[in-house]
Amino acid sequence: MQTLTVQLADRSYPIHIGSGLLRAGDVLRAAIGRRDVLLVSNVTVAPLYAGLAKAALRGNRIVEVTLPDGEQHKTLATAGRVFDVLVANRLGRDVVVLALGGGVIGDLAGFVAACYQRGVDLVQVPTTLLAHVDSSVGGKTAVNHPGGKNLIGAFHQPIAVVSDTELLASLPDRELRSGIAEIIKYGLIRDAGFFAWLERNVEALLARDPAALRHAIYRSCEIKAEIVGRDEREQGERAILNLGHTFGHAIEAATGYVEWLHGEAVATGLLIAADMSRRLGRLTAEDVERVRRLLERAGLPAQAPRIGVDGARGYMQIDKKVRAGRVRLVLLQRIGAAEFTGDYPDAALTATLEAHFA
Ligand code: NAD
Ligand code: GLY
Repeated sequence: MQTLTVQLADRSYPIHIGSGLLRAGDVLRAAIGRRDVLLVSNVTVAPLYAGLAKAALRGNRIVEVTLPDGEQHKTLATAGRVFDVLVANRLGRDVVVLALGGGVIGDLAGFVAACYQRGVDLVQVPTTLLAHVDSSVGGKTAVNHPGGKNLIGAFHQPIAVVSDTELLASLPDRELRSGIAEIIKYGLIRDAGFFAWLERNVEALLARDPAALRHAIYRSCEIKAEIVGRDEREQGERAILNLGHTFGHAIEAATGYVEWLHGEAVATGLLIAADMSRRLGRLTAEDVERVRRLLERAGLPAQAPRIGVDGARGYMQIDKKVRAGRVRLVLLQRIGAAEFTGDYPDAALTATLEAHFA
């Protein structure tokens, strides 16, 4: 097992990464102690892994909430159901909310933990690759509003993340690939050497090679932990974690959040951001080709749906990073370095949108 720490003074917490951690049980027991547990999962994940969590916590009082599966259930109404269970079972401020699932369960259970009695402890046990490398770390919690994704939320850090790669064995291939998109993002924003490692090892990741998965998860979490440790509330630097996301959100919104998985939309968004960076003279055409080739080898889409330039612009306007009507974007300075900026020529954005969406 390897352990990283997200450094946030008295709210610092460990990310334990290894295979078989839930089965072994000790890190989960150490994080929770003898406290009451609200185990939040969904109808897909609970039958697979809730038994392991309960065995690890044998002797604790455990109340289970098993939610329907899907992004469409990441709502205030579903959070309300979880609050009802907490209240009905008289769970107090010392309860630990245990999120067992992908990003949907992690975000929703995290939001519940942030609000219940003004905040109770949260432990994340991610079960998708995307949750291992992104959503379980960093304390962003949220539910969706009919007017937009993740509009209602709070920053609430977990007290521990137990990242057990054994749980990825049952993950559908398409979900695995979606997580690889976020891993490629980390190489692009922060570490050219890691990007080159991904170029050499993408097939090993797709084959779920345990050592390759552990390395990719460790390096991704290390980069995220470092950035969150410096800018927890996204006052600046943390925004670079959203490389490709503004374009990706336009794709997800235009296709009703059902056709494209989040990571697939991010993948295409990464390529579009790389292409815009090339138009600004920062990346070479060969750099953009490297991004395209890696995404293609990972089985990720490179072609955005043809939603039109005005369509794309409209959806980009609802992005949370818009200020005074100006769409701020994460752009690459080179492979391995990114910046968050609203200072770019409009013509470069228009040309980019025409190339990818028209
Ligand atoms: P998800 O949680 O919907 O999981 C994808 C699918 O895989 C679901 O059907 C789920 O039931 C299933 N599944 C999960 N683990 C499994 C396993 N081990 N075996 C078999 N099936 C399994 O989707 P996701 O991609 O994990 O997360 C997407 C969500 O994460 C979005 O709501 C997004 O907004 C959020 N997100 C949050 C952050 C953050 O920082 N908080 C970052 C990125 C994404
Ligand atoms: N997923 C982006 C962030 O956590 O900031």
